[in-house]
Amino acid sequence: MSYKKISVQNRFFTAYFMGLLLSQWISGCKPHALSLSQGNVREPSAQNQATIRVGEVSSMTGSEATFGISTHRGIELAFEEINQSGGVLGKKLQLMTLDDQSKPEEAATAATKLISENQIVALLGEVASSRSIAMAPIAQNSKTPMISPSSTNPRVTEMGNYIFRVCFIDPFQGEVMAKFALNDLKVKKVAVLRDVDSDYSTGLADYFTTAFKKGGGSVVIDESYTSSDMDFKSQLTAIRAKKPEAILVPGYYTSVGLIARQARELGLQIPLLGGDGWDSPKLVEIGGKALENSYFSSHYSTENTSPKIQTFVSKFRQHYQANPDGMAAMGYDAAMILADSMKRSKTLSKQDLREAIATTQNFPAVTGNITLNEKRNAVKPAVVLKIVDGAFHYQTTIQP
Ligand code: PHE
Repeated sequence: MSYKKISVQNRFFTAYFMGLLLSQWISGCKPHALSLSQGNVREPSAQNQATIRVGEVSSMTGSEATFGISTHRGIELAFEEINQSGGVLGKKLQLMTLDDQSKPEEAATAATKLISENQIVALLGEVASSRSIAMAPIAQNSKTPMISPSSTNPRVTEMGNYIFRVCFIDPFQGEVMAKFALNDLKVKKVAVLRDVDSDYSTGLADYFTTAFKKGGGSVVIDESYTSSDMDFKSQLTAIRAKKPEAILVPGYYTSVGLIARQARELGLQIPLLGGDGWDSPKLVEIGGKALENSYFSSHYSTENTSPKIQTFVSKFRQHYQANPDGMAAMGYDAAMILADSMKRSKTLSKQDLREAIATTQNFPAVTGNITLNEKRNAVKPAVVLKIVDGAFHYQTTIQP
């Protein structure tokens, strides 16, 4: 999918910025290819802008493109709603999005660009933990509040007091899948197959292992791959020899889809287990039938009948003719929490805004009520979804 825009919520500004930005935003081009120097000369500081500018760093292209596209749509929908109801403090929100091509170094470059050249008051992003970890020091050093919608590795918010997230963290997510494997699937012997390129995958594999052993289970083999791998047969053959009852594959959807197919080709019919990194429509496109009767944890379920969720799902479907996955909901929630914090902030200085975000309490978000704790993480339940006939079906909710 080609992606050709910076999301501007207001036609006047669209015209204004088109002149400044030419065609350099997104369009699959590298953030470092952008040049906004003309904009710098003319534009006053953040608080004097006619709009409130928010930067977004997302993987709009590359191996995790659905993460970025979904998140972006969720944010865009939230900003449209906020602007239609008068904006924030009398100003419209303006979203400036840069594509990081699913690469950590590009996420860092994009964050630098947005902060140094675009007078943004805050950053939304990234989804993948390794990319949030790459951009967080840049946000922290410039004292720009950053909210990751859905990076779950603990290190993300440990990078400094300007870094927040609106999702749960992986020690909890690992425990969720360990409890589910032990108590619901009643399995005791699990194999692990982890992506060693990803902070998310290695973290989740470790947290699952700790919780699973604590609950009386054993990890009979722990194999690894890297995100560019396409052939997992040797790891899966070694796993088969250990006769596990399930395989934990805490990776992202592209690798997981391929792993599922190759596991079935080798005659492994046991369930595969995973985390929120599976939550993409592409998962089943790639893995097909091989994913039937597998389970993963995520942030919400579109099958939940709560009015808050159903209103969001129908608005999203109307807008994009697509179902909102977990990241779309998290993008929407992150944007709504940022806007709410702006409304509660004394001024729109980055410091005041940071204080306001830090005191977010019981915010009624789509994915649950969100309170940010002293570590700037959200404490909230996770859901477990089962793949049946190629669709994700709600199984259970696990409380923190
Ligand atoms: N939690 C994943 C990470 O930290 C990212 C992710 C979130 C993936 C939500 C899919 C859905 O890298």
